[in-house]
Amino acid sequence: ARHLLGIEPLAPDEITALLDLAERYVALNRSGSKHADVLAGLTQINMFFEPSTRTQASFELAGKRLGADVMNMAVAQSSVKKGETLIDTALSLNAMHPDLLVVRHPASGAVNQLAEKVTCAVLNAGDGRHEHPTQALLDALTIRRAKGRLHRLTVAICGDIAHSRVARSNLILLNRMESRVRLIGPPTLMPAGVAEFGAEVYDDMRAGLEGADVVMMLRLQRERMDGGFIPSEREYYHRFGLDAEKLAHAAPDAIVMHPGPMNRGVEIDGTLADDIRRSVIQEQVEMGVAVRMAAMHLLADNLRAARRAGAG
Ligand code: CP
Repeated sequence: ARHLLGIEPLAPDEITALLDLAERYVALNRSGSKHADVLAGLTQINMFFEPSTRTQASFELAGKRLGADVMNMAVAQSSVKKGETLIDTALSLNAMHPDLLVVRHPASGAVNQLAEKVTCAVLNAGDGRHEHPTQALLDALTIRRAKGRLHRLTVAICGDIAHSRVARSNLILLNRMESRVRLIGPPTLMPAGVAEFGAEVYDDMRAGLEGADVVMMLRLQRERMDGGFIPSEREYYHRFGLDAEKLAHAAPDAIVMHPGPMNRGVEIDGTLADDIRRSVIQEQVEMGVAVRMAAMHLLADNLRAARRAGAG
């Protein structure tokens, strides 16, 4: 494929191949050198129209470790602030001949639209409530390393499902790899038509966690709640916050995940989040760099092959 816009178009063998390559980058990143020349001579531009810590930092590190020229567009100081549209901004950057464009945007579908207008490879770093493919891939790598497989697992995704691109991309990936997904949260934070999502739905946390192998917690995305129902933090933590007592309902060796940013004492107990016997939250961040290196490596290979074919 030319772009990485979502998990939806990926076949199970493509997901496995990307995770296998990412494993090689985990080893490289843990070694003394951390560098490879896979993206040498290529230009990567990161455009983040929403705040980010992990995704932006790891895409930047991934590009630099692979030898790309990496530029972070400062959106707050850009002509976007003067009313320029996303597409005009992208066309202007495209004219500077980038090879890889990494984009995060608050509107669902915006990154797909942009990909139709540019000549380089586009990686979706999260668009609205639609998809966050590299997050699902780094989550999959973390799960595979902890559990030894991605099939026949029960994965509980808990919290604000309605506003979550992380939940959506993970649900698609885990279904595709033949694992069972349970979605847990208040009915007001479940998306419309959730019954068609290929997941079991629970509004009782203890019932939803029963025997789960993986417990994935999500943040309340207040920035997307535009005037709708916003639960009180106390009430929410009481019913849906993960603590040791609720986790005891999951499998004894269940792992605890969170994509970040995390609100301690709202969706997760801080002590549990830091407990490295159960929590793989920091490993998720580490896997993020390796997965993004693998994704850009594969897209760069495809880009070079397409250019050779075009020239020939
Ligand atoms: N998980 C995630 O996307 O984190 P950031 O918003 O910090 O990039």
